[in-house]
Amino acid sequence: KLEKTLGFIKPDVCDKLGDVVDAIAERGLLISKLRLCIMDQNSASNFYAEHRGKSFMRDLLVYVTQGPVIAFELVGENAISRWRELIGPTDPSKARAEASTSLRARFGTDVTHNGFHGSDSPASAAREVEFFFPSSGRNPLPNCV
Ligand code: CMP
Repeated sequence: KLEKTLGFIKPDVCDKLGDVVDAIAERGLLISKLRLCIMDQNSASNFYAEHRGKSFMRDLLVYVTQGPVIAFELVGENAISRWRELIGPTDPSKARAEASTSLRARFGTDVTHNGFHGSDSPASAAREVEFFFPSSGRNPLPNCV
């Protein structure tokens, strides 16, 4: 099934953009949109609304607002699950224990600082693409290039 998904590189690993682009191309996915954004507290807590009240929410908000993120839309057959496979398990140490070559295994630090985001379902992909790339064409966040 031809799908679109939303991914982003979290602030501490934006310097790995080249490796990420290579991994995406090797996997046969297409980067159809890309932008650099600074998420502020407000936009980050909206983006992660489903995690409100969770123990890791505070750390997560500090993390994703500490610098710019690089957000992209990917298109391809089963793009949602394929991008999730490419980034690997939420916890990079688990990813490394599996001797995985996933992006989180290669570049992630710990379960909070895991480097990469990927939409987990068609509904969240649609919502998250719209979040970073609104169909209105307006700049979605206060600081987005
Ligand atoms: P992601 O799956 O992209 O979205 C939720 C984020 O919360 C996750 O990446 C991590 O950055 C962070 N997080 C921190 N601790 C946890 C945890 N125990 N379970 C899930 N996510 C966590």
